[in-house]
Amino acid sequence: MAIYNHILTENQFVEQNDLRYPFEERGLQFGDGIYEVIRVYEGRYYLIDEHIERLYRSAAAIKIHMPFNKEEMYKRLDELLEKNEVKSDAKVYMQITRGSAPRDHAFPDGTEANLYAYVKDLERPVDHLKQGVTAITHEDVRWDWCYIKSLNLLPNVLAKQTAKEKDSYEAILHKNGEVTECSSSNVYLVRNGKVYTHPAKKNILHGCVRMRVEAFCQQENIEFIEEPFQLEDLMYADELFLSSSTSEVMPILKVDSQVIGNGVPGPVTRLLQKCYETDARIPAHASAFQNLRIAE
Ligand SMILES: Cc1ncc(COP(=O)(O)O)c(C=O)c1O
Repeated sequence: MAIYNHILTENQFVEQNDLRYPFEERGLQFGDGIYEVIRVYEGRYYLIDEHIERLYRSAAAIKIHMPFNKEEMYKRLDELLEKNEVKSDAKVYMQITRGSAPRDHAFPDGTEANLYAYVKDLERPVDHLKQGVTAITHEDVRWDWCYIKSLNLLPNVLAKQTAKEKDSYEAILHKNGEVTECSSSNVYLVRNGKVYTHPAKKNILHGCVRMRVEAFCQQENIEFIEEPFQLEDLMYADELFLSSSTSEVMPILKVDSQVIGNGVPGPVTRLLQKCYETDARIPAHASAFQNLRIAE
């Protein structure tokens, strides 16, 4: 496992051990900030445009003034990989907060945003991608503006912890029985060859991989229907899957005690997983599906 010591901040690169976060910091005190997790394959960013667009959209939505423009952000993020000599599969975590100031709910005057971004090795979850995962259902108690990728993740943290305690990979969130997304991914139901998912409204995160899933469906002539589905619909699902930058396109085989479809990853999910690997330029030798047939 490589150690990548250079951390990008708003002013300069610093060594990991030299990074000191201020005590009075709005990210710490209020969760007053935004973040992104960007996938890196063999030292190359995947979906960087989508992540940068969303980052600036989130910043604008909560009126954070970004320390530099998008063009400069691309440059710095490239430098982050170069300086750390990243060649592996990895992830970049970056967060921007409203800054450091004596604690007061209202925005402080004249405070500059704090930014940091680091890179860490991250292997693809190959076993899960092959075999699928289980999920639980959990009430969605988050606020109405989940399209903003805000640092306020307490409901997501609690839902994921509940899933973990039940030996499950994810928590499928629902509001009064209507499925929104998962604690850290988007979720999709397949029925009669069509893919259903919650519309990209304000109450879900508009996942970068979700955008690609929609494009893969178009490319493969699979109907992509942005209609919310209900918890009861799970029992009629042929397939279920989730998507995110770290989980890619992941089959879900069981929800609570309900087996989904035949209890194995289905053909639509497999096809979308293949599309993902092609799109992300995963080399054949690293494919999760070398010895798998697409339809099982
Ligand atoms: C709540 C939530 N939904 C969906 C996603 C998937 O987003 P993306 O595909 O951009 O990784 C994430 C990713 O972290 C998330 O936290």
